[in-house]
Amino acid sequence: MKRALLVMGNQILPAELSTLQDHFDVIELWREQDPEAVLQARRNDIVAIVSIYYMPVSKTLIEALPNLEIIAQFAVGTDNIDLEAAKARGIAVTNTPDVLTDDTADTALSLLLTLSRRICESDMFVRVHKWRLNSAMPLGRTLTGKTAGIVGMGRIGQAIAKRCAAFGLKILYHGPRKKDGISYRFQPDLKAMAEESDYLILACPGGAATRHMVHAPILEALGPDGYLINVARGSVVHEEDLVNALVNKKIAGAGLDVYAVEPNVPKELITMDNVVLLPHTGSATVETRTIMGGLVVANLLAHFRGDPLLTPVF
Ligand code: 8YV
Repeated sequence: MKRALLVMGNQILPAELSTLQDHFDVIELWREQDPEAVLQARRNDIVAIVSIYYMPVSKTLIEALPNLEIIAQFAVGTDNIDLEAAKARGIAVTNTPDVLTDDTADTALSLLLTLSRRICESDMFVRVHKWRLNSAMPLGRTLTGKTAGIVGMGRIGQAIAKRCAAFGLKILYHGPRKKDGISYRFQPDLKAMAEESDYLILACPGGAATRHMVHAPILEALGPDGYLINVARGSVVHEEDLVNALVNKKIAGAGLDVYAVEPNVPKELITMDNVVLLPHTGSATVETRTIMGGLVVANLLAHFRGDPLLTPVF
């Protein structure tokens, strides 16, 4: 009999899902009319979860599944999982680090370029025939010589820094501590870094330690010519403060891949020209999602073979 595997969301691509189905009795939770009832009915069978960033793996869920052995997260961020509850039960947790670093960094740079050079507005300018009517497209902003303040100098932060450097930006970074082997200037004071930055780029983990660290005073420090780019987690930003800062022109604009409560985007942002909105697509390429799915499969198979996990969180 195959082991029961709970897959919580629908982002795993068909080929990897099919491999999972070869090895497990897959419960596709997102297809269920009544997910609660399915969880109740199958609670003793489920030995593994494939989790997704937008579905909480709470203490309640973990405690409701007495035979759960492993949670394989289809993401690098694990802030949706109650890691303490998993650890307390001796449940293994894996994620998908490294493989999505470049795509996520590319997404940050796409947002930065799109905002600075008004790409979305320019595209619309052509489509609605304003160009033909001889009206003037507002000017963008030069990147060269500007300063990017990066919050979180982990794998993704470093990949963003490399790309920013290639575009001629100066780089500062902020995080819980100065990192060995990083030559960019560390700024322990986030507000001071925001003051110095033209682009404040968020690439840190979500969770309690970073919750709302970007709030009104930080946005004020970024100033009317500064842009906020967020490819981290919506929770890092106090969203109401961000909306107020944009409405009141306290900052120049924002490029967002993530939001406080996805997929709900504050209605005020929808009509703003100086805001670029993505539907959490940092890792959303065919190549990367394929590799991420492969890693999820490999971790699960390794666990049930008794082999070391490929990418354990613990
Ligand atoms: C997700 C992400 O992986 O890796 C993360 O932490 O936020 C994303 O790249 C992706 O959206 C799949 O859930």
